[in-house]
Amino acid sequence: MAVLQDEVARRRTFAIISHPDAGKTTLTEKLLLFGGAIQLAGAVKAKGDARRNATSDWMKVERERGISVTSSVMTYDYSGCTFNLLDTPGHGDFSEDTYRTLTAVDSAVMVIDAAKGIEAQTLKLFEVCRLRDVPIMTFVNKMDREARETFEILDEIEQTLALDVSPASWPIGMGRQFKGCYDLINDQFIPLHNDAKGELPRDGLKVTGVDDPALQDVLDSTEIEALEEGASMATELCPPFDLQGYREGTLTPVYFGSALNNFGVRELLNGLAASAPSPRPQAAVIGDDATEIAPEAKKVSGFVFKIQANMDPKHRDRIAFMRLASGHFKKGMKLSHLRSGKQLTMHNPQLFLAQDRATAEEAYAGDIIGIPNHGNLRIGDALTEGENIAFTGIPSFAPELLQSVRPTDPMKAKHLGKALFQLAEEGAARVFKRVIGSDWIVGVVGALQFEVLADRIRTEYEIPVTFEQVNLMTARWLQADDPALLKKIVEENRGDIAEDHNEIPVFLARNAWHLDRAQDDYKGVSFLKTIEQVGT
Ligand code: G4P
Repeated sequence: MAVLQDEVARRRTFAIISHPDAGKTTLTEKLLLFGGAIQLAGAVKAKGDARRNATSDWMKVERERGISVTSSVMTYDYSGCTFNLLDTPGHGDFSEDTYRTLTAVDSAVMVIDAAKGIEAQTLKLFEVCRLRDVPIMTFVNKMDREARETFEILDEIEQTLALDVSPASWPIGMGRQFKGCYDLINDQFIPLHNDAKGELPRDGLKVTGVDDPALQDVLDSTEIEALEEGASMATELCPPFDLQGYREGTLTPVYFGSALNNFGVRELLNGLAASAPSPRPQAAVIGDDATEIAPEAKKVSGFVFKIQANMDPKHRDRIAFMRLASGHFKKGMKLSHLRSGKQLTMHNPQLFLAQDRATAEEAYAGDIIGIPNHGNLRIGDALTEGENIAFTGIPSFAPELLQSVRPTDPMKAKHLGKALFQLAEEGAARVFKRVIGSDWIVGVVGALQFEVLADRIRTEYEIPVTFEQVNLMTARWLQADDPALLKKIVEENRGDIAEDHNEIPVFLARNAWHLDRAQDDYKGVSFLKTIEQVGT
């Protein structure tokens, strides 16, 4: 038991949220570098060679593609902690996947471009974190370029996000004049070495405070003056770091750095090791009772938060990503899949490093495991050592954009249905089948997703399709305590009703008035914007 508790306590499962181009990929790479490059952390053992290859391949993929990290989970050890970094797909557009990934983390790092401040996507992702009170550390990146004034950045974070900000470091200069940072937590000066080639920065200069004469050897008098002024204003205007405030999601410690120059990354990692929360209890329902599953609970349990298809183009497999909510998982163990009532043997659980896979031997609450399957696992599904747990809080969002889809070859209609069903199960889109006629309606939260879907249906299922505009504003899941009432609304509005892939009825609203009227007409029916996917 003690071992289980210790293993849980040293886990840090987190994601990076940012706007494209702020430096998420670069920071990810540098976090891995400081964490001894990519490796399968302690508990999850892989063969040595596989590890090394994984590292270099991942870097290669990164370089070649020049896009955000494609792997879903990266695990590394640092300072006695095991970090699980979950990727939030970082394209200009984003999908439910991104939202759901944030349901599987215990904290987040928000990367901000020092010249741009809070940008649109950062804000959206932040709001998702806030809904779940996910604690956030902020990394203000690209200090080696012309940046905004330090106070202006802090003020923007505070105002835009309504968060207390507490600088953990204080930058000295910016752009070409950027000299490094003063570590306000440990009282040391960390000089910038212009070395993007991978040499890790040397230790900082330990001092007694910003007025320590030792600083005169490394900074000129103007810089020292600016530092003294800045640090004293920071102490006056910003609250000191407060662990509870951070853990509750009301305060963010702010680190300044330059990921490209390996600068500020170690301090951020130290901050995560020291303060980021270990796995939190997960909200669940047992029978009819709401409860929480403690990570230290002995029996293994976990929930699927993401499905990825065809990671290996040669095999049409799917991987279900399960976050362990409790217990000590071992390869080969049997887990009950509650929705189907079947026992699944974990023959081949995996951990993913970009394109490479390594077999997970064992893992603990907070870790993520990839489970290869042929479509029997779905988002929201629970796997447990026998207990009848349903995890809550894994949301499905009402799509904001709806289009109909048809195959260019009408003979392929049936195949298309199958493809759409699989994509819906994977969580790539919402798919609704009208109860009248044979139309499929596809709903997404970002416009780019239609193109991505068309491309996937064509390449993965060999069905060329066209998406067409439909006169629909939104789709709402229907729910009612009284089954007769639910039946009534479905029967009386068949033209506006469809079913999702779980056969839950949805109302297809043409416009706001249409939706309002239906809500008025059927009091007692809920028109839900989000539903929780409960895998039982
Ligand atoms: P993203 O994943 O958030 O989209 O950002 P990414 O890390 O890909 O970084 C976006 C661009 O910003 C990259 O330049 C990257 O090199 C640069 N960058 C990241 N961190 C820093 C930093 O601390 N300082 C400076 N000056 N630049 C930084 P790029 O030209 O788009 O790509 P590349 O050719 O340099 O790879």
